[in-house]
Amino acid sequence: MRLDYVSIFPDFFTPLELSLPGKAADKGLLAFGVHDLRQWTHDRHRTVDDTPYGGGAGMVMKPEPWGEAFDELLTPATTVVFTTPSGEPFDQRLAEELATREHLVFACGRYEGIDQRVIDHARGVAEVREVSLGDYVLNGGEVAALAITEAVVRLLPGFMGNAASLVEESHAEGGLLEYPVYTKPPAWRGHEVPAVLRSGDHGKVAAWRHEQAVRRTAERRPDLLAPSVLDDGTPIVRATPGDAGELLTLQRACWVQEALANDMLDIPALHESLDDVRAWLGEWDTWVVRRAGRLVGAVRGRLEGEHTWDIGRIMVAPDLQGSGLGRVLLEHIQAVAPAGVTSYVLFTGAASARNQQMYKRAGFRLRRDLASPPGAVVLTKRR
Ligand code: ADE
Repeated sequence: MRLDYVSIFPDFFTPLELSLPGKAADKGLLAFGVHDLRQWTHDRHRTVDDTPYGGGAGMVMKPEPWGEAFDELLTPATTVVFTTPSGEPFDQRLAEELATREHLVFACGRYEGIDQRVIDHARGVAEVREVSLGDYVLNGGEVAALAITEAVVRLLPGFMGNAASLVEESHAEGGLLEYPVYTKPPAWRGHEVPAVLRSGDHGKVAAWRHEQAVRRTAERRPDLLAPSVLDDGTPIVRATPGDAGELLTLQRACWVQEALANDMLDIPALHESLDDVRAWLGEWDTWVVRRAGRLVGAVRGRLEGEHTWDIGRIMVAPDLQGSGLGRVLLEHIQAVAPAGVTSYVLFTGAASARNQQMYKRAGFRLRRDLASPPGAVVLTKRR
């Protein structure tokens, strides 16, 4: 694999020679090139930025130096990685994908970003990925390029000494975080190594590690446990403001059934307007499922206090009721609850037998001791 870096701070990349990527270069697995963008400027001040069209704060990187850099570095076999906070999130899957490429060129922006035409132009010449390290803003893309490099390069065949450690680590298998690890001595400053790890029973060790991995993941990254796709691969995705109209239609269809089952019309979900739906979309973490373009399922959740996750508006299109979609949506909304959540709460019609049955099967219990709106019952579950 060949890796090129274009930046106005080429010194950022000296760690490449020191660290594991440097060793891979020594072994001939990798070749690096670090390039100062200013070498492709032609004015006395070696200018790489200018004021933004349309006004606004900050400076934008000019297209011309980037164009000349790309003329020299890009081929049809290149993947250009623009590091930017507005890119797709970097994760282990993307590292695995990038590790299959022959040639990566990291384009490290500074200031308010790079003139959009540079990205559009690169797309005409090579594969382009705009990649973000996370939901925060760095001063430039160099640190992100180094982090991506380290995650990608260690996946190259022949790079890691022990291939098993690649398979066992966090995010690589089953989407779980790694279990806690211990080494000698068996007791240290009053802390003991868990006895099971010293039992010599490999089956028990494996079961303990799996349980710890699941527990950690549930506590720290519940989103990783969420069933984010249905059995047929249909994704469950976050609702957008544009979903409000279809949500209102689906909601009315579902709550007319509720009104009939409970013999009452005084149900808030039945009376909401489009503006009401738009408003709650801004306040709740709402997820939807589309089949062949049609919105067929939804669910929402939000924090009530610090530790309770309020679940509601589980809706399934009439023709898909009974298909298991409601159960999956319920599992999903529990799994995406923030880490500090210790219990779930939801309401349903006192006479909605089918709903209550589904909630009970999912581990919810009827709570007659808690207040509920007229005609409704409240159910809770501990996380
Ligand atoms: N440049 C500035 N912030 C960044 C981020 N979060 N990820 C990638 N590149 C960046």
